[in-house]
Amino acid sequence: MSNETLHEKYIRDAVILSRNENFEACVSWQSPSNIALVKYWGKHGNQLPNNPSISLTLEKSRTETKVSATAAWQSVPSFHFLFEGNESQQFGKKVQDYLQDLLPYFPFIAQLSFTIESRNTFPHSSGIASSASSMSALAACLLAIEQQINGNFTSNIDIQKASFMARLGSGSAARSLFPYAAEWGFTGAIHNSSDEFALPLEQILHPVFKTFHDSILIIHDGVKSVSSRAGHALMETNPYAKQRYHEANINATNLLKALHSGDLETFIRITESEAMQLHALMMVSEPSFVLMQPNTLSAISIIRNYRQRTAVPVCFTLDAGPNIHLLYPNQYREQVLEFLTKELLPLCHEQQWIDDKVGMGTSTISDS
Ligand code: PMV
Repeated sequence: MSNETLHEKYIRDAVILSRNENFEACVSWQSPSNIALVKYWGKHGNQLPNNPSISLTLEKSRTETKVSATAAWQSVPSFHFLFEGNESQQFGKKVQDYLQDLLPYFPFIAQLSFTIESRNTFPHSSGIASSASSMSALAACLLAIEQQINGNFTSNIDIQKASFMARLGSGSAARSLFPYAAEWGFTGAIHNSSDEFALPLEQILHPVFKTFHDSILIIHDGVKSVSSRAGHALMETNPYAKQRYHEANINATNLLKALHSGDLETFIRITESEAMQLHALMMVSEPSFVLMQPNTLSAISIIRNYRQRTAVPVCFTLDAGPNIHLLYPNQYREQVLEFLTKELLPLCHEQQWIDDKVGMGTSTISDS
């Protein structure tokens, strides 16, 4: 077996158009966001994680992206980007940086002129990780275009390569490609796990987790006050960083066991502890960030109290923001909805919540 990394392999295998080619392509892919159970917080090198992370793939919170490409023969990426039908400087800059970063793997990007149209099925202000869905959708489109250059017009893309490329846009995007759940980052607990791409967990998942709901409670509808780029950087000087990476490794190993056996008690304990650790890390960073709102804490205490008095296996996690992701098996849907409506919606901004659940990952929308 060679010691070649995927990074080296993908550069070696990179394709370009031949000079006289009159290439045209139009592809559309959708990709969901995901919610991390074991959190990725801290990175090094070229978007490599400092600890393994595990997530549930969402279903309804998605980005749909259409990429049209024609041969243009320039030396830098040339593209026109439309977000929900409008020019967006903020997202356009992200796309530009991303295309630039992909050039060593996808040199054909500089030979094409792109029109990229993207839309989200969820509001930007909801705090849902739009970089995970948007970068994985765009990565899938570019992979489909690379395949077409190679003469392959099927909609089966190399999912591992898509995960690798998505990672370069946003670390968490590496996990969005897969059905139900994914793991990203080296861990001794999974054969073939890697910092370079995520792996599907479908094969090891207990059926109960395939029925999970994620009811996202919009406690506060602002955009994030700390970008994840800045957040990851804060870990470089965080005095608890070493201990955190140690804890994350243990949590990843134990959560994998719980995901396999259907042990909801362990699932709940680790998931809530990970949410708290993420926010604790931010609170003790320099500068310090408190991303929870008073109603986030109220909701946490109400959820724990409800669980204790009813034994319904419902728990919460948080992303890098104040909104609560309420996780529970479908079997308890009715009870939890009643609880949510009565006790949690009054804490939400204009009673808003997003009724999401685990989903199937990235797929083509059409072979247009
Ligand atoms: O993918 P990024 O660079 O936006 O980082 C995501 C970080 C968290 O959402 C807070 C945790 C995670 O693992 O998704």
